[in-house]
Amino acid sequence: MNQPALAAHVAHTPEFPVYVTNANLKHWVSEVARLTKPEHIYWCDGSQAEYDRLCSEMVASGTLIRLDQEKRPNSFLARSDPDDVARMEERTFVCSRNQEDAGPNNNWVAPDEMRATLGKLFDGCMRGRTMYVIPYSMGPLGSHIAHIGVEITDSQYVVASMRIMTRIGRKVLDVLGPNGYFVPCLHSVGMPLAAGEKDVPWPSNKDHKYIVHYPETKEIWSFGSGYGGNALLGKKCFALRIASIMAREQGWLAEHMLILGIQPPKGRKHYIAAAFPSACGKTNLAMLIPPKALKGWKVTTVGEDIAWIKPGQDGRLYAINPEAGAFGVAPGTSDKTNRNCMAALKENVIFTNVALTPGGDVWWEGMTAKPPRKLIDWQGKPWTPDCGRKVAHPNARFTVHSGQLPSLDPEWENPDGVPISAFLFGGRRSTTVPLVTEAFNWVHGVYLAATMASETTAAIVGQVGVVRRDPFAMLPFCGYHFGDYFKHWLDMGRAVRHPPRIFGVNWFRVDEHGKFMWPGFGENMRVLKWIVERCEGKAGTRETPLGGMPRFEDLEWKGLKDMTRERFDELMSIDPELWSEELKEHGALFEKLQSRLPRQLALQRELFELSL
Ligand code: OXD
Ligand code: MN
Repeated sequence: MNQPALAAHVAHTPEFPVYVTNANLKHWVSEVARLTKPEHIYWCDGSQAEYDRLCSEMVASGTLIRLDQEKRPNSFLARSDPDDVARMEERTFVCSRNQEDAGPNNNWVAPDEMRATLGKLFDGCMRGRTMYVIPYSMGPLGSHIAHIGVEITDSQYVVASMRIMTRIGRKVLDVLGPNGYFVPCLHSVGMPLAAGEKDVPWPSNKDHKYIVHYPETKEIWSFGSGYGGNALLGKKCFALRIASIMAREQGWLAEHMLILGIQPPKGRKHYIAAAFPSACGKTNLAMLIPPKALKGWKVTTVGEDIAWIKPGQDGRLYAINPEAGAFGVAPGTSDKTNRNCMAALKENVIFTNVALTPGGDVWWEGMTAKPPRKLIDWQGKPWTPDCGRKVAHPNARFTVHSGQLPSLDPEWENPDGVPISAFLFGGRRSTTVPLVTEAFNWVHGVYLAATMASETTAAIVGQVGVVRRDPFAMLPFCGYHFGDYFKHWLDMGRAVRHPPRIFGVNWFRVDEHGKFMWPGFGENMRVLKWIVERCEGKAGTRETPLGGMPRFEDLEWKGLKDMTRERFDELMSIDPELWSEELKEHGALFEKLQSRLPRQLALQRELFELSL
């Protein structure tokens, strides 16, 4: 791929380390430095010594608190500004030349207008700060499925987090070489420091926040926030929004999917990629521990948030996890819900917005059944269990390297990826949607994924608990018109000889008392087992208007006491009235996307309506 022209000639080129040979990179860094006017420029080498030094500097400046070395070795707590706690979808923009290309699923501003706005905001925005240049690889270095990005940032917290979550430093420049292609990602907290001005622990810009993507030039510009997906630009901005555009152009898929391996007691291992909206238990599913009753079944983790998927020579789809670490939601994580994750969090972690114990450890809602008697909350205030406030922010996070995960799949860094047997799509639905359905075929599967919805959670700023359509769990992450995206998925099904089977799941249905009907967590293995057996043509099924469904006798119930045939029937029931409402919502979504909606999906909806 050719690198688009990124920078005009600059008169005063900064000094570059000798190992920086990429001319486009030098131009871009020079141009950004000229615009943002930092005090220093620093090229990250990615070493442990560099990471340790940065963390010590952040401890000295108050950005990080060092946790107790015995209880949580080499780990830190960061407290963000209370206004900077989650991804900000309303401040996220896709600035394509043609508005229609961004689709109704993205906020759009004309690129020239956005460049003018950002030009002013970025002018001098790094004064008094160091500008860090982070070359990084999304995916194993040199893998044909991987791609390189370079993030420029004035946040040390971002540098440290990027080192955990991606592969950074000199080794990436070696792969990039003098002519290699990279995605330029510019980030600033948007808070320049005047001479002698003291910094705050969590710099950000209260008045202006922008997370901007330019599809044609594949650039990312992020201003004003230091938090998660707004600032760690390799994750949602590159690996999903920009990569989804690259994937469409180049014939692959960039998806909001975990990847897990399932090894049956006998026979072949399968890999499954699963899309869920934010905070729907993706991390738990990716790290699932099967119940004892399902002896011999083993689950391994390749990734817990994002998958890049390319066709292989053998006609199957192969996936890599482009990330090297997790930025996971902490509240609710415990030895009961996710023992693998808790084991990964023992050391070398950056926690953000969780509570601090008097002994210098961390705590969050759900970590233990009983909270400690005294804590310091995520904003640094004293807290007791009866004070009526949450002690951790509901979107508090941990940042941890994948290498620490006990369930890590041995193939997680295979540069060729792992072959995908099935795609799963799921949302958080308290009513309407059964536990599991299997699509009749690829087009029906694309329909199922295109019309999925979920009740919203704290991972995004805004309303919590409303049902919103979230096609493919990509609503906040698809970098172009959803109609074109659906068409790309339909095309991909035709482009490979052995497309994966497609399933829909819902772990969150409740009964008339508001109680979850499905135990979830490790017990989800029972559904995964059926899915794997379907892939092998073994397990039974029955046809319904929604797709194939397991009969009671098709699932393994050994060791699960509470699930009677009646309760299972209720869990799987299809209420015609609710589905007729649901179909209206599918229609409303399709109406919005109408100008580019593939005809197959509209026809699929009609067929569905007639079969209900
Ligand atoms: C995430 C998200 O942080 O989806 O993974 O919001
Ligand atoms: Mn996510």
